[in-house]
Amino acid sequence: MSIERVLVVGAGAMGSQIAMLAALGGMRVHLHDAYPDALTSAETALRTRIDRRVEKGQLSQRSADDAFERLVFSSDLSAGAADAQLIIEAIKEDLAAKSALFARLDALAPADAILATNSSSITASLLGAATGRPGRVINAHFFNPPLVMDCVEVVVHDRLDPDVAPAVLDACRRMGKSPVALPREVPGIVANRILSAIVREAAALTDGGFATVEAVDEICRNALGHPMGPFELLDMAGLDVNYQMQQLIFEQTGVDQDRPIPAVVDLVGRRRLGRKSGGGFYDYDEKRAQ
Ligand code: 3HC
Repeated sequence: MSIERVLVVGAGAMGSQIAMLAALGGMRVHLHDAYPDALTSAETALRTRIDRRVEKGQLSQRSADDAFERLVFSSDLSAGAADAQLIIEAIKEDLAAKSALFARLDALAPADAILATNSSSITASLLGAATGRPGRVINAHFFNPPLVMDCVEVVVHDRLDPDVAPAVLDACRRMGKSPVALPREVPGIVANRILSAIVREAAALTDGGFATVEAVDEICRNALGHPMGPFELLDMAGLDVNYQMQQLIFEQTGVDQDRPIPAVVDLVGRRRLGRKSGGGFYDYDEKRAQ
């Protein structure tokens, strides 16, 4: 099956850029959010990003205009679901909210539509149980910022229909990404599990007084070649997002080290959620947050 019609649910930083990628890849896309303000903000942010690509000569004005023609910003979930072949969910990391959404999408979308979740912390098997089509539910995990990061983790599981992973991998490639197919589900998938191990060690080093937050980040950048240190990365992704992700992983694995790290628990408790709230591990004035 070649995917031509896509619905993305959730117009946050992840969902909006995933929708843009699909539109740039030639697919017709509905980007849905229940909050009209979120759709307005998403459209403004996407137009700024894409304008910049055009100014830099990375994209022609024609291709940008065509992509926006194919992209509908909509608060009507059923309109986008009615003829979708692929639905990508990118709402908050909340099992009850995602399960309710998957049950709703199951009722609204064509019987053979693929329901993908951008979650890394909740397996498709868990969400598939809320639907009558567990064989068509899959994790397709993009990375922040999706317009830039090349990877998508696509996870196969025992109940998956054989045509689903190839169709999702093909759609990701047409979005300009380099998807990686993985043979078994694990909460967190590969990248976030490795990232969690780095974050745990980084926190142990700062807690033990062996290095400051700034020093850990600088060393990861300049000694290991990471584009950002772990604390900068947590601030960019959102500490609430990391908290929810680790909590969900812990609830599924029961492994103590999968819990959110205490520093993140503390900062979230003080509503320091990272760049988006003006402060997390670092403080962000207007200029730095940009
Ligand atoms: N959205 C879209 N594009 C962005 C962006 C954003 N939020 N931020 C930066 N960019 C683009 C810029 O426009 C620029 O594009 P260009 O080279 O075509 O002009 C390019 O990225 C580089 O940007 P900058 O020069 O401003 O800044 P940097 O060189 O520092 O790059 C970065 C920014 C791409 C975010 C880089 O620091 C990076 O790769 N950081 C690591 C990101 C990472 O590890 N992501 C994975 C997080 S884990 C995750 O997502 C899992 C999830 O489940 C939480």
